[in-house]
Amino acid sequence: MSSRPARVPSTSRFLNPYVVFFGVVAGVLILAVTIALLIHFLAFDKKSYFYSSSFQIPNVQYSDHLNSPATQEYRTLSGRIESVITTTFKESNLRNQFIRAHVVKLRPNSSGVMAEIVMKFKFSRNNNAASMKSRIESVLLQIPNKFENLEINPSTEITSLTDQDTVEMFNQECGAHPNLITLSEERVMGGIKAEEGDWPWQVSLQLNNVHFCGGILISKTWILTAAHCFRSHSDPHQWTATFGISIAFPAQRKRINTILIHNNYNFVTHENDIAVVKLDGAVPFTKNIHRVCLPEATQNVSPGSTAYVTGWGSQSFGGNTVRELQQGRVYIISNNVCNAPTSYNGAVLPGMLCAGVPQGGVDACRGDSGGPLVQQDSRRLWFLVGIVSWGQECGLADKPGVYTRVTAYRDWITQQTGI
Ligand code: ARG
Repeated sequence: MSSRPARVPSTSRFLNPYVVFFGVVAGVLILAVTIALLIHFLAFDKKSYFYSSSFQIPNVQYSDHLNSPATQEYRTLSGRIESVITTTFKESNLRNQFIRAHVVKLRPNSSGVMAEIVMKFKFSRNNNAASMKSRIESVLLQIPNKFENLEINPSTEITSLTDQDTVEMFNQECGAHPNLITLSEERVMGGIKAEEGDWPWQVSLQLNNVHFCGGILISKTWILTAAHCFRSHSDPHQWTATFGISIAFPAQRKRINTILIHNNYNFVTHENDIAVVKLDGAVPFTKNIHRVCLPEATQNVSPGSTAYVTGWGSQSFGGNTVRELQQGRVYIISNNVCNAPTSYNGAVLPGMLCAGVPQGGVDACRGDSGGPLVQQDSRRLWFLVGIVSWGQECGLADKPGVYTRVTAYRDWITQQTGI
C-alpha cells in the first residue's frame, strides 16, 4: 500500500507578494493618519478660552445712566472700551488668537467706573494654560493709558472662565443671544424656524396647559404680555408659562401668581394693550432662557429699521398655532405711513407701533399676541420694541402688524414691577 506523504501547508501563501504589499501599505496608511491627526490636534485644532478682567476707567464719573445697557452713555462707553481692547489685540502678536471682547457690566468704583470684561481667545491645544495667560496679560499691559481721550487702567489680572461662568456673567446682563455669550461670529438669520436659544426671552402663556398667547421674560419673575390675552380669562390659576422653543417639550414650566392689566386698556381701540404677569417663583436663567433688554422711554425706533417678531401663532389667517417657535423679519413703519387711508386710516394711536414688509407675507398672527418684537443694538444686545397686539387679518399688503409701543409704556412697566 502506498501512501503519499501528508501535504504540509505551504508557508508560501503567507508570503504571497500581494498580501505582503497590501499589508505594508495598510500599515503605513494607518500610521500616517494617526500621526496626521495627532499633529492636527496638537498644533492646528484650536480651542476657545474665555477670560474675565476688570478695567478701571478713572476719568469717567459714574452716573445712573451707566446702570442700564439701554442708555446712550452705556453703549458709547462700553463700545469704546471694547474697541480699545480689540485694536490693541489686533495689533499684537496675539492678533490671530484674539476673537472678541465684551463689556458685561459697568460698576461704580472709588475713582470712577469699573468695567467687567469677558474676552475670548482661540489657542491650539499644545499651548499650556499658564503661558497663554501670561501672553494675554502682557498684551493688556500694552493698552495705551489714553486712547481717543478715554483713560483706561487695564487690570493685568485675568481669570479663566468655564462655560458656565461665562453664561452666569452674561445672565447679569439682558438681551444676549447664546452666540453673544460664546462671543462667536454673527450668525446668519433668515430661516423661519427658530433654533433653541435664538429668542431666550420668548414665553408661551398657556390657559389650562394649552398655548394661548406669547409673553416676554423681563426678569426672573416678570413677564410682559398683551392685555387682550386676559379678556375672558383673568384668573391667574388657570394660567402657566413655559420656556424653550418647543411647546410640546418645554424646557421649563411655571405657574402664574398675579396678572396686572393696564387700567385703561380699551378692547375697542386696542389702546394700552399691555399687561404684566408675575411667576410663582423665579425661573432659573440659563444660556437659552433669560431676559430681554427694555429700552429707555426716550429711545426712538427708526422707521425702516429691521426687527424680528417671534411666536407659535398660526402661519396664515384662520390657521392653527404651531408647535415649534417661528420667527419673522419685519421693518418698522412710521405711524404716519401706517395711518394712511389705504392702510389703517388713523387707527394707529401714539402708544402703538407698526412693523411689516411692504408686500405683506411676513407678520404675526393669531396666537402670537403678547409676544416680542425685538431689535439688536450696536453691541449685539436685543431690545424689546413692541408687543404683538392687533392687525387686519395677517400678512396682508398695507396691513402690517400693530404692536404696543414699549417705549411709551416704559414708566408703566417700572410702576408695576419695579424693573
Ligand atoms: N390678536 C392676535 C392674537 O390674539 C394677534 C394679532 C396680530 N395680528 C397681526 N396681523 N399682526 O394672537
